[in-house]
Amino acid sequence: MEFDLILKNATLPDGQTGMDIACANGRIMAVERGINAPAKEVLEAAGQLVSPPFIDPHFHMDATLSLGTPRMNVSGTLLEGIALWSELKPVQTTEQIIARALRYCDLAVSMGIGAIRSHVDICDDELKGVEALLDVRAQVSPYLDLQLVAFPQDGIFRDPTAQQNLLRALDMGVDVVGGIPHFERTMADGTASVKYLCKIAAARGLMVDMHCDESDDPMSRHVETLAQETTRLGLEGRVAGSHLTSMHSMDNYYVSKLIPLMAEAELHVIPNPLINIMLQARHDSYPKRRGQTRVPELRAAGINIGFGSDCVMDPWYSMGKADMLDVAHMGLHVGQLSSRADMGWCFDAVTKNSAKIMGLEGYGLQKGDKADMVLIQAVDPIEAIRLRPARLAVIRAGKVISRCQPVISELSLKGRPAQINPADFAPKPAEGR
Ligand code: FE2
Repeated sequence: MEFDLILKNATLPDGQTGMDIACANGRIMAVERGINAPAKEVLEAAGQLVSPPFIDPHFHMDATLSLGTPRMNVSGTLLEGIALWSELKPVQTTEQIIARALRYCDLAVSMGIGAIRSHVDICDDELKGVEALLDVRAQVSPYLDLQLVAFPQDGIFRDPTAQQNLLRALDMGVDVVGGIPHFERTMADGTASVKYLCKIAAARGLMVDMHCDESDDPMSRHVETLAQETTRLGLEGRVAGSHLTSMHSMDNYYVSKLIPLMAEAELHVIPNPLINIMLQARHDSYPKRRGQTRVPELRAAGINIGFGSDCVMDPWYSMGKADMLDVAHMGLHVGQLSSRADMGWCFDAVTKNSAKIMGLEGYGLQKGDKADMVLIQAVDPIEAIRLRPARLAVIRAGKVISRCQPVISELSLKGRPAQINPADFAPKPAEGR
């Protein structure tokens, strides 16, 4: 048979080298050495790393690329960001949201992202964001899987019409139930919001992903209720807690009880390292807290963790370029994940762990998986995080949809230009630390 694509001589994330990957009809047909068969395109990987695509499990596509409109966030806090977003919401149009989102999707695809879970604010009686992102989800589907979360940014109980708007959004085709218990008026309302929203998800057979305890307050403990409701309603494996930054500040004894409850509920956890290190601890003097949830301890309990990017150039975050390797790099540093095993895990946190959170079918590099992958100018996942290098090719359904030239520096050595490949400087350490 003639394949659509054969990728030759690739290194896989698990360390296998010299592997060929043959693709046809949108699927991986074979992963082995020495495939010699006709193909519409043969792509030489030259020993570079091939991975399933990057997955971003937490983003806000209705706000992205809006930086500076109508003004900048001066305090740098989450709360000023929410206030600023409330100024932009009534004056932006559906067409503007679509245009910004499509620009971002182009960038994301070029950086090797294959799927994004985006929250969409439903605290707008016109539901402009929902309308816009449903349109974008359909437009980008040949290139990118977009999963939408109905997100009551101003609080499902605090906003007077959020309850009906959330149901309208789900009826329109939004995929996942969101929430923000720490932003409700009281702790009691926050607890009630978790119960209310989980009940809706259970009744409709949907997944849940809540902004939960995105706070420096160690008494913000809504994740406890989220775990309890997940278990009570039989939603195990379908519920994610995003941020969970208050866990950074909680008492150790309380956390020693909490983490087993989260594991029992099979909660997924989504830290957002770039935004968490930027927004948290703004009320601290010194010492200043890091504000990232307890990644090593959650991981040790067997809890699935995926890193999200959250924001790019919007009211909350002025930086970002759709690079999940930037996200992994920051998560690695803030979590002090410096052993070889820990650094390699950080790559999983922006690939397969996040695919599990989103429930993506056919994700991976096994025979029968979707023929979606990214060729990276690095020799292994750790080097990919260290260099955050060029995405040489992005492949979707067995076709190359984005290409990039390798980054090559030129140095004049003794008057003679020399090509320097950053990968040549990679150490080859022994296994272990
Ligand atoms: Fe978020």
